[in-house]
Amino acid sequence: MKNIVTARAHTNIALIKYWGKSNIDLNLPTTSSLSMTLDSFYTTTSVEFTDKATDSLILNSVSADSTRISKFLDMMRTQYDDFPKISVISKNHVPTAAGLASSASSFAALTAAMFEILELEKNKQEMSRIARRGSGSASRSIFGNFAVWNKGWDDVSSYAESFYNQDIGLSMIVAEISANQKKMSSTKGMQLAQTAPTYNSWVKKSALQLEEMKSAISQKDIEKIGLIAQDNALGMHEQNRLCQIPFDYFTNQTRRIIDFTNYCYNSGLLAFVTIDAGPNVKIITDRATEQKLLTRFRAEFPEMTFDVAHAGGGYEYL
Ligand code: PMV
Repeated sequence: MKNIVTARAHTNIALIKYWGKSNIDLNLPTTSSLSMTLDSFYTTTSVEFTDKATDSLILNSVSADSTRISKFLDMMRTQYDDFPKISVISKNHVPTAAGLASSASSFAALTAAMFEILELEKNKQEMSRIARRGSGSASRSIFGNFAVWNKGWDDVSSYAESFYNQDIGLSMIVAEISANQKKMSSTKGMQLAQTAPTYNSWVKKSALQLEEMKSAISQKDIEKIGLIAQDNALGMHEQNRLCQIPFDYFTNQTRRIIDFTNYCYNSGLLAFVTIDAGPNVKIITDRATEQKLLTRFRAEFPEMTFDVAHAGGGYEYL
């Protein structure tokens, strides 16, 4: 039996978003979602059995609050045989200011590491289901390339699976806007968004968009992927503005990047936006266009940093 295990999992960006829960404790979503796992951004997590009285976390070389991972590990203790306390050492290899959801790669890496140290069968469906309990989007980071999280109806039926395990030439340009802590957690943001009078229509539309997105990916049609992803993401943010206590993750910089992306698209380049629970923008394009866009964006926004990511990932042991 191993005493220490290290796993790596990559972050993912949803092309069809998860934005709402039907069960908060279980992280059951109101919509199915679809994402691309990114090759270059990931979390590395080591777990070790300890005889200390509590679980502990060292995050990016600093001792950190372990409440959330301890809750996750306690959930695993009830689902499987009880196990001793765990020391977790985790490092995020994501651009700090890019607003990439490190919770997805973190809980996927922690899940993979725990499955190995506990010698559990590595059934990806089961791993995805467990990762979901830590953070909904983590359910998709168990898989490389494209994954669909089928919303399901209970704890057992809600998990992600590989949808298209190939790099189809989609590029994501990640604009680093703000290193600040996001102003509203995704859980809180979702709860509020669900009070929007238009929320149910967004949910219904999302189900149609998911099917369109699946066929666009199978056809490797980047323009169609970009148009659907952009519409789905802007619709998600619209719920935030229309809910009972309106809020907005966008800043002026967010809006400037959206406008410039639209301008690039209207001048004939493949360029679309997607935005998560923060001000940062990810620009969807293809391999043939990425360098042209990078040159334009760097000239237009010299104060910002832009990184590029492609499809890849999936978990691995180090
Ligand atoms: O996994 P969470 O609870 O951090 O939620 C992530 C939600 C979005 O990133 C905004 C959308 C998504 O599907 O990843």
